[in-house]
Amino acid sequence: MISAIDAGNYQTKFYDGKQMRSFPSLIGEYRDRNLRQQHGDYDFDWQYGGQRGFAGTLAMYESECADSRKGETKAHPDARLRVLLALHRFAEGTEHQIIVGQPISTHQETEKAAIKEMLCGRHELTVNGQRKLIVIRRCEVAAEGVAAGLLVPGGGIIRIIDVGSGTVNFGTLIDRRFNDRGSFTLGTGMETLRSVQPSDFARQIALRALAGGWLGTDKVFICGGGAEVILESLRAYFPGVLMIEGDASFANVKAFYLIARKVYG
Ligand SMILES: Nc1ncnc2c1ncn2[C@@H]1O[C@H](COP(=O)(O)OP(=O)(O)OP(=O)(O)O)[C@@H](O)[C@H]1O
Ligand SMILES: [Mg+2]
Repeated sequence: MISAIDAGNYQTKFYDGKQMRSFPSLIGEYRDRNLRQQHGDYDFDWQYGGQRGFAGTLAMYESECADSRKGETKAHPDARLRVLLALHRFAEGTEHQIIVGQPISTHQETEKAAIKEMLCGRHELTVNGQRKLIVIRRCEVAAEGVAAGLLVPGGGIIRIIDVGSGTVNFGTLIDRRFNDRGSFTLGTGMETLRSVQPSDFARQIALRALAGGWLGTDKVFICGGGAEVILESLRAYFPGVLMIEGDASFANVKAFYLIARKVYG
């Protein structure tokens, strides 16, 4: 099966061409519980590699130390667990060919190799007592933000701002090809900022883009879970800024799936 997984710092998004799904990326410790209330659709009591813990809505309500590891790289065990949980819960079959994401700033060969290395191969994951063998046959790593530019039709210069929970990705496509010089990452996002007004964050985002060579008159599209909140304030700097079509949170994973179809077709 071919699927795309955007293991975000806030929500893990999954798309296989049919179902578009997501769950909270929180991971927390296991606790023995006297009360076994169901908290949500994504209550995960998991066992993997000799460890046990809670994830998703179960971690949110019942772990005392639930958190999601945020940062500019996704080459870490928490991100692996998010990907495996998505496959366990949403994907059909045992064998998988997947595309996952990585922020632009760490989208380098060594980091990508580390992600492929930790994901490819056989994994045994038990969720809520259900043991599954998950075999990842192939894995490729796409760049967050800039990939979403593939959803915008037409050529010329297309700019993408992907406002996530832990990062903001800035992507540039020139005639539908990824442009490295115009693509970069800001290491703060909607969750890492405390008590900041959207207009202040929009200003920081815009100044970073302008410092990176973007022009106020460029064709700029915004996506990610923070897009709606930031959009209006961004207009002061980029008057023509538009929301990417469709659900902004799922833009990356939709684009990853387009890439998956091309690579694994
Ligand atoms: N309806 C909404 N209203 C306001 N904020 C929202 C809404 N939905 C999501 N968010 C915000 O968007 C952020 C999540 O966006 P998104 O799912 O794009 O992040 P992510 O991909 O998980 O993170 P990252 O890209 O940093 O890995 C959260 O921080 C949340 O605060
Ligand atoms: Mg994201």
